[in-house]
Order: sequence, then structure tokens, then C-alpha cells
Amino acid sequence: MCGIIGINSYKPVSSAIINSLKKLEYRGYDSAGIATLSSGLINEIKSEGRVDNLEKNSLVKKMEGTIGIGHVRWATHGIPSSLNAHPHSSQNVSVVHNGIIENSTILKKFLIGKGHKFKSQTDTEVIVHLITEHLKKENIINSIKKTLKLLHGSFALGIIFKDQPDLIIGARRGSPLAVGYGPNENYLGSDSYALKSMTNKITYLNDGEFCVIKKDLVEFFDEKGTKINKKVLELSSENQKYDKGDYKHFMAKEIDEQPMSIKNGIKEYLDTANNDINIFNFPWKIENISSVILIGCGTAYHSCLMAKYWFEELTSLDVSVDIASEFRYRKNRFKKDSLYIFVSQSGETADTYAALDLCNKNGMKTCGVVNVIESSIARDSKFVLPIHCGTEIGVASTKAFLGQMLILYILSLKLGLIRGDINKKKFSQKLKDLKVLPELVSKTLLIDNKIQTTSSTFIEAKGSMFLGRGFSYPIALEGALKLKELSYVHAEGYPAGEMKHGPLALIEEGMPVVVLAPRDNYYKKTISNMQEVIARGAKVLLITNKSKDEIVSENIWETIEVETTNEDLLPFLLTIPLQKLAYYSALKKGYDIDKPRNLAKSVTVE
Ligand code: F6R
Repeated sequence: MCGIIGINSYKPVSSAIINSLKKLEYRGYDSAGIATLSSGLINEIKSEGRVDNLEKNSLVKKMEGTIGIGHVRWATHGIPSSLNAHPHSSQNVSVVHNGIIENSTILKKFLIGKGHKFKSQTDTEVIVHLITEHLKKENIINSIKKTLKLLHGSFALGIIFKDQPDLIIGARRGSPLAVGYGPNENYLGSDSYALKSMTNKITYLNDGEFCVIKKDLVEFFDEKGTKINKKVLELSSENQKYDKGDYKHFMAKEIDEQPMSIKNGIKEYLDTANNDINIFNFPWKIENISSVILIGCGTAYHSCLMAKYWFEELTSLDVSVDIASEFRYRKNRFKKDSLYIFVSQSGETADTYAALDLCNKNGMKTCGVVNVIESSIARDSKFVLPIHCGTEIGVASTKAFLGQMLILYILSLKLGLIRGDINKKKFSQKLKDLKVLPELVSKTLLIDNKIQTTSSTFIEAKGSMFLGRGFSYPIALEGALKLKELSYVHAEGYPAGEMKHGPLALIEEGMPVVVLAPRDNYYKKTISNMQEVIARGAKVLLITNKSKDEIVSENIWETIEVETTNEDLLPFLLTIPLQKLAYYSALKKGYDIDKPRNLAKSVTVE
């Protein structure tokens, strides 16, 4: 998704801006651009495609200027093209923008009426012309204030001005924005990751705030334009040097890192000496909570769905799960005794953040389960449970999914114990099983050849289905999501028991179907559903766990057996072959595995 960088320095900035844009590439984008100020002129260079294309432009190397802004764009208004790429500039001002201006059509009409000429199809260009219009009569700060007032929708902005060789303005409403501090230079960035190679001193803007960035000074203002003081945070050096190592793709590395990331999560939350779970500083009386509402998007939503099964199994709490983009616009009945849990790897997903904001505004108990601890969701949740799985760069979430599930499982166990829904003996046994999970994930990762071979069938087929029941159903959804987002072939996750209510009609000779049938309470039922698809010609890849009991079924195309553990933890192991299936499918198709088309790592627009 779009990313912003701004640098105000005493040194030339173009190569530093390009390097920072490369750090933002993980977010997913379709074009890039840079603008610097030199000899009283705004120079703007933009290109479609990767930042590499921009860098290859010989003019970029020659670009002068000690102040500049850069952007990677993920198209919302207007096709991906160099014309629509940011920055957008008039003679006086140049702007980079993340977010969506919802009233851009009306504003454009108004500006055209005033004689302004538009070059692009973007919503962003109205900001350029509004500022230019206001500058005719007002000073810079008033022009910015008046412009921001007119904008509906969400934005993070970086702005430079033709006559101001020592000024970048940043402004935020709805989309994240951070300021960084360096020696004799200061920075603007859409996330701290872009700034980390230059500084670990960061200030985050809150909604409605704007800032003035000079080479030796940064000032912050609230919505009304009143000067405010803000804290400078020191980011941990952890994750600062995250690279691919010997791996071809971040995704492959991140899949392999899962034993370690699960181990880290367990270390953070398990009190081995006392055989307990540490959840410190929980701000509410657990006895006063009667229901849990889990909210997320995409893969994070799947971990919420998974958690519903655990919460229902291990606690007597009422549990519901919601997709953030649905929750935020529904007529919700907010209940004081509910705990609202927001699950997000990036902590910046616009819909999840909006749902959190809504709950906060209604005085609800909000808890973030988040990987990026400096993120907006982590900062604005009343209580945070970090995932501790380390930086995740691959757009397709892998280790963060296991990390989210781990934290939600741990939370359900702890709440179950405190509320007396499970006894100490059962709790201790589950902790014992949990401690060996990293080892089981390691062993399951060794399954490889069969997944590589079967992946060919999935990419050659018209489409595929992923079936599971109970604990395996959310994993089936996740497996299908991974395959479609990486290999661009249709894949559908379904509850195995629902097939005969419609989707069975899709099954035809040779269609690959993944059936998740671990030896749990649902095993026999799932095997019957598997027979139904085999009988209609499906090529079934059965994924189960190792057992001494033979699989009593014929005509299964392939079987993969993951390690064995208690049924709560099997979803972690079932996920691994599905992640690999998606990875190998995309690899065979030669697709950009870490940056699938049309997708972004941090979805900062709704
Ligand atoms: C899929 C994937 C997405 C994200 C979703 C939410 O592999 O990664 O579906 O899970 O965009 O992102 P976060 O977790 O950052 O809120």
C-alpha cells in the first residue's frame, strides 16, 4: 500500500529517499516517485512499476536538492501509471499522499472552475491545487489548515514548497505518519520501518495533527493549529537488520522461522517455574467480562475465527468474530462487559483501526493482538498483547498467523483457568503440550517433497477447494486464501459439512481438493465428507496427523501426515503444509512471491 518518505537535510537527499522507498516496497505498490527542491524549483520524477525503475532513470542520479519527498503508490483513483504516481506538483507545491479523498470529485469541479488544470486521474491532485489556491492569499500554515478542513476521507501527507528550502509539512487524518530525528536532518515516513535505517528516534502523529519539519527543528500542531509537545520514542534495535539471508524469498524464510517465533511467543507468556501464563497488567477484572468479540481482516480474521473455537472450548464466555470492514459500519450493540480484541500483524490496517477507534469512542474494553508494537492499533488499544514473531515482510502472512493464534490460544487458556472453566490439571497438561509445539512445528516443516509435487496439480486446475470441520475449518479458509493470493488461481475454503448445500456442484473429475482431517472429534465426519467429493471425481490431498490407526478410506490421491499433539494445537501444524503449498505453487508459476499482484502488506486504506 502507499508509502511516504520525506527528508530535510544539509546533504543531497535523492539517494537516501530512493533507499527508504525500497524499505517501503514490502507494503505492495505499483509505481513510485520522488520530488526534490533545488535552485528554487521543484523537480519531480516518477515511474510505473518498481522503485528499481525509478532508480534506473539517469535523471534521478543527477537530482540535486537537500530537501525532498518520495512515494510508492498503490492505485485507488486512476490506473497505475507514471502520470498518476506521486508526488503531484504545481509550480508552487509538491504533495505525496496516502489514503483516499472522498470528496475529490466535488473539489476538482470547484478548482477547475477557478482555472486549475489537472494532469492526473488521482484524488491527490486536488490537494495540490487547493494548497496552491490558498497560497494566493494566505501564509503556508493557514493554507494548509484551510486545505485540510476541506478534505473528507483519510490522509497522510508530505508537502514541500517551491520557496521554502527548509520546510516539509506532514499531516495525518486516518492514515499513519511518523517523524524521525537525525543528526542535522529530520524525516517524515508513513511507518517507522522506512525510517529505521536512518534513525531510531520517532514521534507518531495522532489523527488531526500536522507538523513542520526543518533541518534542525520539528514542531507539532493540533487540528486547530495550536502548537503541541509530543514524545520522542526510542525504537528497539530488534528487527532493524531483517533481511532474506540465504533464502530466495522472505516468505520461505518466514515459514521456516515459525518454530523460533512460536518459541519466542511462549517464552514471553509462559511462566515455566510456576506452570502458569503471565498476562501482566490486564486492566479489567476478568470476572466482569462475559463476552469476547474478535475483529480482524484477512488472515488475521482467520486467526480470530480459530480463536472462537478455543474460547468456546476452554471458557464459558460468549464469543463472536467479525470482519473489521463489516463491524465498523454495522449497528453494533456495545456492551460494557465485553472484551473487544483487535488482531493485526501490521497494526495499521485501516478497517481494523477504525473498528478499534469506534469501540474506544464507545468506552469499550479494547485489546490489541499486534505484531508491530509501534503501530497505531498497538498504541491506541487500551491493552496490548504483542505477538513477538519478529518482522514479517512477505505480503502473505505466515509466521504472524501462527503468532496470532498462539497469543489467542494462550489468552483463552488463561481466561478459562481464572474463570474456573477449566481446572488446574487440564490447564497444566495443555501448557505441557504447548511447550513442545515449536519442536513439532520444526518436524512438520520437514514435509516438503510431496507438497512440491502436488502443487503442480493445483496450479494447472481451474480451481480448488479446501475443506475442514471444527478446528480445521478456519485453517481451510486460510489455506485457500494463501493459495489464491500467491498463485492467482481460484481456491475456496469451506466447512466440509456444508458441501452438499451447494458447493458440491463445483466438484468435477480431477479437481484438487484439500481435506483437513486430523484425528480429532470431527475426524469421522470429515472423512465421510471426503468420500462424497472423491465419489464425484475430486483428487483429494488429505492432510491429517500421524496415528497408529490406519486411514480407512480408498481413492485418496495423496496423504500428508503432520506431527501429533492434542487437538487444540493441531491447527498450528495443519497450517504448515498449506503455507508451503501456496509457496511452491507461486514459485512454479514464477510469480513475485513476496509481493503478489494488487496486494499490500499494510492495508492503510479502507
Ligand atoms: C494474507 C494477509 C492479509 C492480512 C490482512 C490484515 O496473507 O496477509 O489478509 O492478514 O490484510 O493485515 P494485518 O494483520 O496487518 O491487519
